[in-house]
Amino acid sequence: KMKLAVLTSGGDSAGMNAVVRAVVKGGILKGCETWIVREGYEGLVRGNSEAHHVKNFVPTLAGHVVTDADPSLIHNLRFGDGELLRDGTGDHQSGRSLKGRYIVRVGWDDVRGWFAEGGTLIGTARSKAFRTPEGRLAAAYNLIKEGIDALAVCGGDGSLTGADVFRSEWPKLIADLRAQGKITEDQAAKHGHLRIVGLVGSIDNDMSMTDLTIGAPTALHRICEAIDNINSTAASHSRAFVLEVMGRHCGWLALLAGVSAGADFIFIPERPPHGDPWEDEMCEAIQRVATFHLSLEHRAMGKRKTIVIVAEGAHDASLQPIRADYVKDVLTERLGLDTRVTTLGHTQRGGRPCAFDRIMPTLQGLEAVNALLEATPETPSFMIGMCENKITRVPLMEAVAMTRAVADAISAKDFTTAMSLRDPEFCE
Ligand code: F6P
Repeated sequence: KMKLAVLTSGGDSAGMNAVVRAVVKGGILKGCETWIVREGYEGLVRGNSEAHHVKNFVPTLAGHVVTDADPSLIHNLRFGDGELLRDGTGDHQSGRSLKGRYIVRVGWDDVRGWFAEGGTLIGTARSKAFRTPEGRLAAAYNLIKEGIDALAVCGGDGSLTGADVFRSEWPKLIADLRAQGKITEDQAAKHGHLRIVGLVGSIDNDMSMTDLTIGAPTALHRICEAIDNINSTAASHSRAFVLEVMGRHCGWLALLAGVSAGADFIFIPERPPHGDPWEDEMCEAIQRVATFHLSLEHRAMGKRKTIVIVAEGAHDASLQPIRADYVKDVLTERLGLDTRVTTLGHTQRGGRPCAFDRIMPTLQGLEAVNALLEATPETPSFMIGMCENKITRVPLMEAVAMTRAVADAISAKDFTTAMSLRDPEFCE
């Protein structure tokens, strides 16, 4: 029986809870024992303090102990820890607390309704400790202590790289733990292979080899609504607005927000403005209502609002950051526009997932369980993605390497390569 744990890591994104729910429920349906790890890799490193070491988790059905999840009875299952995680601290009714416990056995009811919740209910962190060999040794020990042999990680490229490092180091970690006498010969033999799978949780849609990342559709929807709101006040006052949206190395949110809600000019990291100086290019584009009216000012043509979107990672061709406040000054001074800045910040990241950020993570979570069940020491770690509306498995490290290549191309000012490494058709 595979013992499977799921964790969320890095920046949260809408849909992460749907991943956890799908992995837990999918795992149970396939006969696995299911666990969650709180606070990402940090929780793996901290593990469960001995005082709280729970060995006596007993799934029950109407008072009768059940050993395996019987799919025909699943809707009736009431695992002992149901509701344990709902408020992140434990189930007050049963008096059990999660204090000192980061790796927690969960059942069907623990994740009930999670597809509709924003953020990640099991917590996330950017763990410094897990980046050290000592941290990873502690993490391996904590997993083995609970008998867990499979791990699903939902996070961005940094988190998925961490997963791959962990897996490739695993044989050495086992050998070290055995040498230190922390695990028995039996445990070492039983845990010779760690099964790992990655799911991409990132609002930026910045991972290569998948069409979408979990949380990106919701964030885009949030931005779209914000622009709709701003449009009405902007038009009322005949104002310009500069909107800063998230996206460190990736302009997907900024670009698609422009397509779905309208914008006069967009700054993204992969393609800085060509104009030299770019201020001229922007001002000219904003004034151009239609090519045959080039000479006329846009306000004179009856246009009552101007929207400029700046991705937070935007810069000019020499990699100097382009800041929303500076864009505002240019619009005010050069075009005489009454301009305001709105930074959407974390309103883009939090809140309830849209329908697609429930559907895609559900399908991907189920596929993640299949990938873990089929994993062998020879197969690479997979990342679950989506390509042309189909759920896919791609080699995790290939996807991470391609994603890194975009950031590297941007740093090298090779914007043609950066653009072509993103979806080439879309970039055109
Ligand atoms: O990667 C997701 C993201 O939201 C980026 O767009 C943003 O730069 C970053 O995380 C901000 O992260 P935090 O506020 O958690 O430091």
